[in-house]
Amino acid sequence: MPEHTSDVVVIGAGLIGLSVAWRLATDGVRVTVCDPTPGAQTSNVAAGMLAPVTEVEYGEDDLLALNLASVNAWPRFAAELEEFTGLPAGLHQTGTLAVAYDVDDAAALRRLAEYQRRLGLEVEELTGRDARRREPLLATGVSGGVWVPGDHSVDNRQAVTTLLEAVDRSGVLLLRRRVTRVLTSGTTAVGVQLDNGDTMHAGQIVVAAGPWSPQLDGVPEELRPPVRPVKGELLRLRVPEAYRPALQHTVRATARGFSVYLVPRPGGELVVGATTSELGYDTRVLAGGAFALLRDARTVLPITDELELVETIAGLRPATPDNAPVLGPSGLDRLLWATGHYRNGVLLTPVTAQVIADTIRTGSVPELGKPFLASRFGR
Ligand code: GLY
Repeated sequence: MPEHTSDVVVIGAGLIGLSVAWRLATDGVRVTVCDPTPGAQTSNVAAGMLAPVTEVEYGEDDLLALNLASVNAWPRFAAELEEFTGLPAGLHQTGTLAVAYDVDDAAALRRLAEYQRRLGLEVEELTGRDARRREPLLATGVSGGVWVPGDHSVDNRQAVTTLLEAVDRSGVLLLRRRVTRVLTSGTTAVGVQLDNGDTMHAGQIVVAAGPWSPQLDGVPEELRPPVRPVKGELLRLRVPEAYRPALQHTVRATARGFSVYLVPRPGGELVVGATTSELGYDTRVLAGGAFALLRDARTVLPITDELELVETIAGLRPATPDNAPVLGPSGLDRLLWATGHYRNGVLLTPVTAQVIADTIRTGSVPELGKPFLASRFGR
């Protein structure tokens, strides 16, 4: 049975695992990343919103602080990545327009804007007419809006491509293999076993396997993080040249009580998402999901009817009981979690890489990461 060694083994090559690996490798750490399909799961499906303000939920103050730190970290992270690889990182600093359709939607949006203002977040309330001045193709029925200058987006697929190049250039070994088991000696994780039977010894293991993170054999049941898959269906539309740009900013809408978001890419793609369903590891796109997204998108952006539907896809968000990630010690020595990012994986990529790299370098979790330890769930 062949054996290998590495300073750090990262399980999972989504945006989180790749950015952790890149950060460590540029600090001179020997890193191996294991994933049978790098970048092809949740990171490939996401819409890529950096939305600490427009996705804020009542009462999630610690998560908000982490989200704000990460949105502020994105420009530097993107610049470093671009300098290192010569490729675009996919960051688009466009701002976000939240809009409401009917009067009930407008009341809900106003309440959320008040909460956002109380938290000290930058928001500007708009009339329907002002919203249409920013986005002229919005439906005349749009009754109001909130302009959020600090919420942006990242082309997640571009970011995956660029991070794969970055890990390659920084000397990371990428093994297209599934980890079947974490190897332990007493209460210390010492390596991993791969699906071809090979083993790899590691000084540290980082689990960045998204919704699959709790499934690793060798990790005692009571230490596994409470991460579950939450399915999201999403559509990709192509805007014909004549109508470009259909939107200039990310638009989040509440339309007759339903939520939809539309994220424009510079190349003419419009990403429309996303449903939220608790169906386990099911990634089928259901007709009802696609229908609801198209119905709500055309309510606020009637030109949706004229766009080409080029892709329907579903992915799995790694959700936790408090919607916040699980970062740092696992209860097994030398095994760290970097998982559970739920709706904020793209947003939290830079800060997660920094928290995990600092934890490995210093042996303790930095202040920013402390509210997100697995121990908050009694693990
Ligand atoms: N952050 C977008 C979503 O989870 O659908």
